[in-house]
Amino acid sequence: MHIPVMLDECLEALITDPTGIYVDGTLGNAGHASEIFSRLKSTGLLVGFDRDIDAVERVQETLKSREGKRVELIHDNYANMADRLDKLGLGKVHGILLDLGVSSFQLDIAERGFSFMQDAPIDMRMDQTQGQTAGELVNTASEQELADIIFRYGEDRASRRIARAIVEARAKVEIQTTAQLAGIVERAKGGRRGKKTHPATQTFQALRMAVNDELGGIERVLETMIDKVVDGGRIVVLTFHSLEDRMVKQFFNRHVPREESLQQGGVRRVYEEPAVKWIWKKPLIATDAEQAENPRSRSAKLRAVQVGE
Ligand SMILES: C[S@@+](CC[C@H](N)C(=O)[O-])C[C@H]1O[C@@H](n2cnc3c(N)ncnc32)[C@H](O)[C@@H]1O
Repeated sequence: MHIPVMLDECLEALITDPTGIYVDGTLGNAGHASEIFSRLKSTGLLVGFDRDIDAVERVQETLKSREGKRVELIHDNYANMADRLDKLGLGKVHGILLDLGVSSFQLDIAERGFSFMQDAPIDMRMDQTQGQTAGELVNTASEQELADIIFRYGEDRASRRIARAIVEARAKVEIQTTAQLAGIVERAKGGRRGKKTHPATQTFQALRMAVNDELGGIERVLETMIDKVVDGGRIVVLTFHSLEDRMVKQFFNRHVPREESLQQGGVRRVYEEPAVKWIWKKPLIATDAEQAENPRSRSAKLRAVQVGE
């Protein structure tokens, strides 16, 4: 089951006008989307995106019974959000929510190949209609490319050793399944060594981020979404990885007006248009109770901005 992370905090920050238009860029299991939907008046509109067609179809089912409310679900990368909203002719929206990463639903279905907990072909694509699978990547990328991916996205210091082990293993036999890959990584790292997390955790995360170009998508949506939000509207982002959080923080910081002293005296305001302001100075993290109930929330950071000065 997918338990939505920091649900109340997200919704409090997101919804300023229940008759407005709200975008959930990452529908997943509709945890946040259902709650947005519940809080909107009948004149409001929920627009939802997911690049995973299974998620879009499931959410369609979940929301279908809720008569009298307006909803528009779109199977696409949120990187294309601005274009898709333009095509709908909606003008600006009142709030956008992004809950980044993979859903528990995707992790739990063995055939999606995201998890070493269940043996299956290594796929890991969120959008199964296009792109290279993680299996293809593992069997074709150079040793250097694999080491870079595992180091950058997995932050695993054993990245070179793991990449070497993958290349040596695939020279003998194609690496087809998640169990095969997990075993190679585990041996390369010298076993579990008493650690609670599986030694392949970071490698699996890194391959997933690479195959889905997750940071590229975030960069593209950030660049285009502020312009889509009305003055006073909100952008709320939940991240689960330090690289994601840094991207989000640095991006919005560039749009927050700050005062710079001039040599000749006086000050000038410096920022990239359009201006935003942080709702909270520091990111929110889940309460101890939520972290105990939902382990996924432990690495979550919630940031939110209001568009305008
Ligand atoms: C963490 S889950 C969202 C969970 C959801 N908020 C809930 O409470 O049920 C992330 C979802 O976003 C989708 N996703 C990830 N990257 C995406 C992208 N670039 N464009 C569209 N959807 C994306 C994934 O397919 C997944 O279903």
